Amino acid sequence: MHTYINKLIFGIGLVCFSFTLAVGQNTKVIEIKTKSTSLVYAVDQSSRLIFQHYGKTVDSPENFKQHKAYAKPDTDRDFSYEAYPTFGLGNINEPALAAIHSDGSLNTELAFVSAETNDTQPGITETVITLKDRVYDFTVELYTKAFWNEDVISQWTVVENNEEATVKLNNFASSFLPLKAESYYLTHFYGAWAGEMSVAEEKLENGIKVIECKKGVRTTQTENASFLLSLNHPSLENSGDCYGGALAWSGNYRLAFQVDEWRTLNVISGINPFLSAWSLKAGERLATPEMIYTFSSTGRGQVSRNLHDWGRKYAMVGGTKIHDIVLNSWEGAYFSFDENTLTGMMDDAAEMGIETFVLDDGWFGNKYPRNNDDAGLGDWQTNTKKLPRGLDYLIDYAHSKGLKFGLWIEPEMVNPESELAGNHPEWIVQSADRDKITWRNQLLLDLSNPKVQDFVYNVFDSLLTSHPGIEYVKWDANRHVEQAGSTFLPASEQTHFWISYTHGLYSVYERIREKYPDFVIQDCASGGGRLDYGALKYHNEYWTSDNTDPLSRIFIQYGTTLIYPPVGAASHVSTSPNHQTLRMTPLKFRFDVAMTGRLGMELQPKHIQGDERVFAEEAITNYKQFVRPLVTNGDLFRLKSPYDEGGWASQMYVAKDQTSAVLYAFSLEPHLRGIYPTIKLNGLDAKKKYQIVEINKNGKTRFRGDGQTFSADYLMNVGIELKIADQFDSAVFLLNVVH
Ligand code: DGJ
Repeated sequence: MHTYINKLIFGIGLVCFSFTLAVGQNTKVIEIKTKSTSLVYAVDQSSRLIFQHYGKTVDSPENFKQHKAYAKPDTDRDFSYEAYPTFGLGNINEPALAAIHSDGSLNTELAFVSAETNDTQPGITETVITLKDRVYDFTVELYTKAFWNEDVISQWTVVENNEEATVKLNNFASSFLPLKAESYYLTHFYGAWAGEMSVAEEKLENGIKVIECKKGVRTTQTENASFLLSLNHPSLENSGDCYGGALAWSGNYRLAFQVDEWRTLNVISGINPFLSAWSLKAGERLATPEMIYTFSSTGRGQVSRNLHDWGRKYAMVGGTKIHDIVLNSWEGAYFSFDENTLTGMMDDAAEMGIETFVLDDGWFGNKYPRNNDDAGLGDWQTNTKKLPRGLDYLIDYAHSKGLKFGLWIEPEMVNPESELAGNHPEWIVQSADRDKITWRNQLLLDLSNPKVQDFVYNVFDSLLTSHPGIEYVKWDANRHVEQAGSTFLPASEQTHFWISYTHGLYSVYERIREKYPDFVIQDCASGGGRLDYGALKYHNEYWTSDNTDPLSRIFIQYGTTLIYPPVGAASHVSTSPNHQTLRMTPLKFRFDVAMTGRLGMELQPKHIQGDERVFAEEAITNYKQFVRPLVTNGDLFRLKSPYDEGGWASQMYVAKDQTSAVLYAFSLEPHLRGIYPTIKLNGLDAKKKYQIVEINKNGKTRFRGDGQTFSADYLMNVGIELKIADQFDSAVFLLNVVH
């Protein structure tokens, strides 16, 4: 047996170190590095691939040869944490892989075959470690991409079946990560429609904590496929060992955190195995989605900045580019508009300095006009009653005002009351002989079916080819899956539905991006219901939430930007009282909050008149001139969490070269008797001096030192007291280096 195993060991890449074999030692060390982190695996003498370390850089590969991390010598066999634990190996924790082999065997035991590494592009190294079952012709490839500058790694797995017949995969995780500490604190993001990305932090005790989704579509509305893990204490902004994780997948997911009997934390992440067994035929391969990780030894602030840098550069479209200021028609007009309503909105938008006008829901359907949400979805022809001169008239009008034109679509969905539902009932996700359950009066199209994929692609493509003046699309998705079932998939493969739907969606997006690589697409699913790094890859921005109340948005955007780049966070000024919460807030507060993300408006702009109009125009100018470049490519430093006691929130963006910054502070509650916040800044060049100037003042100065120059160490260590105490007062300051 051993000779056989030794024969398997070959092909060591650049990341692999060989040593002379000694009793009890590992035979190889595989090191994957970024600027400040190392991920280390070792191959032991039984040719098992053992996890050794993921965290701060360790430059001593020879130590990993001598010693097995987390090994349990007191157990019957030498229990170590395998890099990819399978069921059938004596693994007693959650398995990363559970397969039923072609002969019915439930057991898999992987041995190391090879490791290879390649620099795929400057700053990115890809390592593939190949493992093979000791008995069956069944291979698992573990991929890790290391992004040097961003301190991010991404991991995924490819399973290949070369057995005689089909292998059934029940569990097939993207990544396995064991961590060892005294205690573990998990931050995760929960919510609901209009309340996405609420932040919860909890101590993990023995047992399994699972974050998952079984909804198929709109998968991040109630839990997001991302987390932070802090070792030994709750996560802190500027200190402590902290990991960030996010799964790049828009379908069902499962992130499992098991503290086992040895108090090791096992993190298993990937597609949710729930009703999703995958039959892998002989000769076939299945690739899992990517799991993204980053690590910082200086707290969660750096974790976020790593993810933002990585996300902007590699995980979204146009992430480092300046985004337009948008007026979206939804809250200003809903379904009730005609040409004049829209051209009137464009007149005001152009006057106020807005750059793109987006026509939301309600513009289509003739036989079944889309005058509310119960009809017309699926019939993507312009409604001739509302818009007799067609889309081109509106597009030309927008252009004549110097605006770009954008359009809303929801191409994965259909109202039963539509021509599409009548023409193609077989395209609808359904369960034979059962009544279909609607949600927002709509049904879901079956994207596992290539004909539906073509249809969805064509909705997008034909709109753009027949109206080349469209320069922005808001892609919405307003329901989840109930009654999973496909008329396209055979009976034996109905459990493939969940994965095939997401593969179908991605293949449509691939086609779109091949033809329209830079076109601006907003990711929306009833707000932030499809905010994950799998979807973001095809989008330029995301509709953070349908809740546009600025107080709610402070919390939603705080949670969202812990993981996702602020440049993508569409953040719109809406009317007061707010349509979702009925809360009244001053226009300045609404603008100041919206200016922490991609600024836009979501109201009838003609209702902003007089002093408010003057203020709005000035704020838009400030955003364009000073704030937007910092939101786009600056580093986010969170200064006061809205979740902390005190009732304040504060953050800043600092330019990468530290020459300028923007500081925001918000009063969330009434603070009586002149209790003001003292804000200690962060991220500045400690050796420099900065001039601080308040913007969006609206007739009031909120800092006694407005316009003066301060040393960075004063600003960061002493801090500044801001005169904001009333509920919903806020302040925005620009900082510039003074030489
Ligand atoms: C849900 C979106 O989140 C809203 O912004 C709006 O586009 C509506 N759908 C339109 O139906």
